[in-house]
Amino acid sequence: MEISTTPSNTPTSDERLAEILANPGFGTYFTDHMFTVEWTPDAGWHNARITPYGPLTLDPATAVLHYAQETFEGMKAYRHGDGSIWSFRPEENGARMVRSSQRLAFPELPVDDFVQAVDALVTADQRWVPDASAGEKSLYIRPFMIATEAFLGVRPSQHVTFMVIASPAGAYFKGGVKPVTLWLSEEYTRAGRGGMGAAKTGGNYASSLVAQQEAIGQGCDQVVFLDASHGKYVEELGGMNLYFVYADGHIVTPETGTILEGITRASVIELAGKMGHQVEERKFSIDEWRDGVASGEITEIFACGTAAVVTPVGELKWAGGSVPSVPAGDVATRIRAGLVDIQFGRADDTFGWMHRIV
Ligand SMILES: Cc1ncc(COP(=O)(O)O)c(C=O)c1O
Repeated sequence: MEISTTPSNTPTSDERLAEILANPGFGTYFTDHMFTVEWTPDAGWHNARITPYGPLTLDPATAVLHYAQETFEGMKAYRHGDGSIWSFRPEENGARMVRSSQRLAFPELPVDDFVQAVDALVTADQRWVPDASAGEKSLYIRPFMIATEAFLGVRPSQHVTFMVIASPAGAYFKGGVKPVTLWLSEEYTRAGRGGMGAAKTGGNYASSLVAQQEAIGQGCDQVVFLDASHGKYVEELGGMNLYFVYADGHIVTPETGTILEGITRASVIELAGKMGHQVEERKFSIDEWRDGVASGEITEIFACGTAAVVTPVGELKWAGGSVPSVPAGDVATRIRAGLVDIQFGRADDTFGWMHRIV
């Protein structure tokens, strides 16, 4: 892919950037540039460019605004101790975006072009990648694809735009890893059979907001969704996948199909396997959760995703009941350290997961 570059005339000053990177929060500040490439049936993907970050001008009839034909990704760039900048399994994000695109009737952006686009933006805005000494700070990268044809007919858009933006992110846990408390949504589900649960698309998150709001209202951090058919099997959290560790060392994680195939999830399965744990991907019922904790058979529960990497799970609550937390054990701690050390270049990348950008 040929990428043209128009540098910003008003890049963020070094002083202002230092202020932002000292306390970036999440998703609030954006780098000086953005990547864009467009697609039409005749021209295919064309006009790839890096331009100054700025607002889009959209016709009010633009399809994405009406029918939510949209997919996105979430990934990070990490600065290592020697100053180099790396991403974690970017081709997996690219491949997942292809699968999401297929489900949303979008054209496919080749994985190589996806990785090149991310690399080009991170290279252009490399001074925005926080220092290695800054705890677990990173540059969060948000690739997304939107239906940009101005047309109100319900059919796949004949003009598509893929963009990449980036935003520095603070450590997810300030002052140490702390368990997330969970609210079980009995009223709302996230995805049904044949639905879009495995796709990373805005509609799934729009439908999760009311359940997440309920969780917050109940004093919990995150919502747990059950399967839509039986209301019985544990699927995933609003933005993380789940793991249950048993006393004999084996680990169970809900099987895919209606859940998002987390890249952290897949990496945890590989890492846990290497650490000697047998990992089962299968249906896992809420009764197994409750009974396993009560009997002491389940010795650890944790969740994972790009944002928090791995986090222990605390109490699970629902209207009229709860399952107490299991004391945080060392399986989650060891897996977390294993992943974070690879991402920040403090451990050998024996899996070949890291991709050098700068
Ligand atoms: C619904 C949902 N499940 C799971 C995950 C974890 O996926 P990943 O490990 O690729 O970040 C995410 C993304 O953060 C998510 O939004």
